[in-house]
Amino acid sequence: MDTSPGDSGKFYITTPIYYVTADPHVGTSYTTIVADALARYRRLQGREVLFATGVDEHAQKVLRAAQAQGVSVMQFVDGFAEKYKQAWGALHIELDRFIRTTEPVHRAAVQDVVQKLVQTGDIYKAAYEGWYCVPCETYLPEGDLVDGNCPDCGRPVESLEQEAYFFRTSKYADALLEHIEDNPEFIQPDSRRNEVIGFIKTGLRDSCISRAGTDWGIPVPGDEQNVVYVWFDALINYLTVAGYPDLDPAVWPPDAQVMGKDILPRFHATIWPAMLMALDIPLPKALFAHGWWVCADGSKISKSKGNIVDLQQVTDELVQISGCTREVAVDAIRCFLMREVQFGLDGSFSMDALLGRFNADLANDLGNILNRTLPFVGRYLDGLVPTPGPGSGAFAGAVEEALEQIDYAMAHLDLRGALEAVWRLLAAGNKFIDQRAPWELHKEGKAEELAAVLYDTVDLIRVVATLLSPFMPRVSVEIWRQLGLEQQAGLMSWEHCRVGLFPAGTRICRGDPIFPRVDLKKLKAQAQKPAVTPEQAKPASKSNKRSKELSGITYEQFSQIDLRVGRVIDVEPVPDADKLLKLTVDIGEEQPRTVVAGLAETFSPRELLDANVVVVANLEPATIRGVQSDGMILAAGEKVPVALVTLDRDCDLGSKVR
Ligand code: MSP
Repeated sequence: MDTSPGDSGKFYITTPIYYVTADPHVGTSYTTIVADALARYRRLQGREVLFATGVDEHAQKVLRAAQAQGVSVMQFVDGFAEKYKQAWGALHIELDRFIRTTEPVHRAAVQDVVQKLVQTGDIYKAAYEGWYCVPCETYLPEGDLVDGNCPDCGRPVESLEQEAYFFRTSKYADALLEHIEDNPEFIQPDSRRNEVIGFIKTGLRDSCISRAGTDWGIPVPGDEQNVVYVWFDALINYLTVAGYPDLDPAVWPPDAQVMGKDILPRFHATIWPAMLMALDIPLPKALFAHGWWVCADGSKISKSKGNIVDLQQVTDELVQISGCTREVAVDAIRCFLMREVQFGLDGSFSMDALLGRFNADLANDLGNILNRTLPFVGRYLDGLVPTPGPGSGAFAGAVEEALEQIDYAMAHLDLRGALEAVWRLLAAGNKFIDQRAPWELHKEGKAEELAAVLYDTVDLIRVVATLLSPFMPRVSVEIWRQLGLEQQAGLMSWEHCRVGLFPAGTRICRGDPIFPRVDLKKLKAQAQKPAVTPEQAKPASKSNKRSKELSGITYEQFSQIDLRVGRVIDVEPVPDADKLLKLTVDIGEEQPRTVVAGLAETFSPRELLDANVVVVANLEPATIRGVQSDGMILAAGEKVPVALVTLDRDCDLGSKVR
């Protein structure tokens, strides 16, 4: 396959066009988000892109749904087309073309194709006697039915007897097999290619491509009694977008056509290329079929089961739970969908999995590097990005390696692989800060070294923000803004994904933490809290209370204490308080905590700096000598602390202690 930059012309990428019977949901959104990330990635590389999606309006089920609602079918489809456009906008999809099959230009293209193929003899008229599944919009011969029902959706089918037009799909079976075998990248991933080969080898039948007895559809030219079958009509949208019949040579053939695995063998990998062969038009370079999103219990997400996952609702929920902005929530969901599953495989969608990744990938890894580095630049360098001095360039090799991995992954639609390469950079960055300890360099007055370390880290964040832009476009822009690069949009390009290009002297512009960490424990506890009965609500009697005290606390009670691993990154005396110290402790959150601790009698600030400690993270904040303290450090000792509770080996900041 050839989806890499350097190809001439535009990068043409498509999604299926969606039936206007269901609102956009996680499945259709996933296809569109994946295609958007790919389109954005190529734009980032400086390639011109044509990214098209749209709606498939001429289905029988569309007509029936409109009739059931008592509205005109045009009114019905107009409403849905608008809904889709809005939904894609809300998911940060940057489209170049939204096609509707009711557009006159598409109608002309479909009629032209039919006419041409009638002339070449690839479309012929014959009797059709068989079945039709309205929900799937497929013609089914008797032999394909399973227990008399549709083999795909299991629902009842309708009997059809009509004079119809047929397309000679069977004529192209051998040529198709040859093409698939000669071009291993034509159908991806491999598992899907094998499925298609198996499907073709069982024998391709000619396809019925018209429907009688309805006027909802594009009329067969010269035969107003028949409309063109909705799938034949819909596939032609890819040609319409490229200017058919005068195909734009800068656009055709498509570089990547993305779809779900359900519509690959029967349609996109057989009828579609056969139609193109019959028209003598080059085939698309690559068809990518992804797996299905299923519910956490493994059940299929479908409208008929009423378990549709609507990403607008998921966004609302994420905003409410985490307190992040809507734009961040949308990007977090995009990132989750692309990182959670290997492209091509099925994935299960659950709020728990989304929140887990929100905390681990975003609040921890990405949030951490940003919220540790920018304050350092603020504190130690007056908020100005330093000049890269001798010794900077620590990430040159890692960035180069990541770029290679990302480019290979994106060319093969391995979105997870691409994101993992970005996350390796983040891990390297976070580790670098831990090891090079800017607070220490500052204390030791090693100004040059400190500048080099902070330059390298902000520069790495700049590269990461750029690399993340196809996946989380708005988050990237916010990081960019916090880096002080708002006026330097031109630097956000593939070409600038090299170390050392952060303009020295830029004033960073810290903002609110982008990803507020979700307290999963609290959330779970809230969800599980049993409703309190009036009996339970009564105050415990004295004897009851006493027996409770004697028997100790329950595990449940103990587990309410949120103990976390932290590292002391700064220590200051508290004025007029001999016993107290003000500690800045990093517990893996967006912002380090301030903890006032009575440790001054036993420990010098020097001993505490950089110590690994255990922090009570959910203690109510208290103001001690005018300083707000947000947590407590565990130490052993009766009245005076004699030893810190610390860890005997390295472990991630923020890890739970129990
Ligand atoms: N109108 C046809 C496509 C014509 S293209 C020339 C159609 N439309 S659809 O509305 O049913 O959308 C199908 C596409 O939605 C699938 O191919 C897939 O891309 C996506 N998905 C729908 N449900 C899905 C999941 N549960 N999971 C993942 N994607 C699925 O078929």
